[in-house]
Amino acid sequence: MALEITPTHKGEKVIYKNPSPEFYQAIGGEEGMRDLMYTFYDIIYESDIHNFFPQDREEFNKVKEKNTKFFIQLCGGPKVYDEESGGGDLNEYMIHVHDDFSIPEKARIEWLGCMREALNRYDIDEALKQDFWNYVEAFSKRTVNQFPEEKHNPYF
Ligand code: HEM
Repeated sequence: MALEITPTHKGEKVIYKNPSPEFYQAIGGEEGMRDLMYTFYDIIYESDIHNFFPQDREEFNKVKEKNTKFFIQLCGGPKVYDEESGGGDLNEYMIHVHDDFSIPEKARIEWLGCMREALNRYDIDEALKQDFWNYVEAFSKRTVNQFPEEKHNPYF
């Protein structure tokens, strides 16, 4: 099945590669990426994980814009996210951003569901869509930082 979701296993080494610049071209460069990310966050806003994100519209817009810049740079576009990440490794910085939130697998699956819905609104080459998906599907495993056994472990 295309755009499949595989489960996260605690402690597992996650292997991923950044999306290809061909995806970035196909989605329409900076403007296309902005459109995709705004579409994605509009879907998030209506989803079960909306409460993870700022409820204030203006604050939410800031997240949309930072997210857009991250993906522009990640996919080979101009380095517009360096001002946020300080020029270090983008993926490592992104793990650090998510450490402030308690993210279980269920939230990751919902997040990916929103991303899949957004991607499927674009008529671009399926192989390029899959390439982008492979990154988000794998990398999102690294954002999961809450596992069921921890929640129920009285010594934790
Ligand atoms: C491929 C996986 C993911 C990527 C690349 C990603 C990327 C991002 C980016 C770029 C930002 C904005 C960072 C900034 O402030 O500069 C962000 C913020 C955030 N992400 Fe993710 N994310 C991913 C997965 C997830 C998942 C699975 C969740 C689960 C709920 C999540 C929840 C959040 C939250 C809560 C914020 C911060 C909102 C705020 O600032 O109040 N992310 N993410």
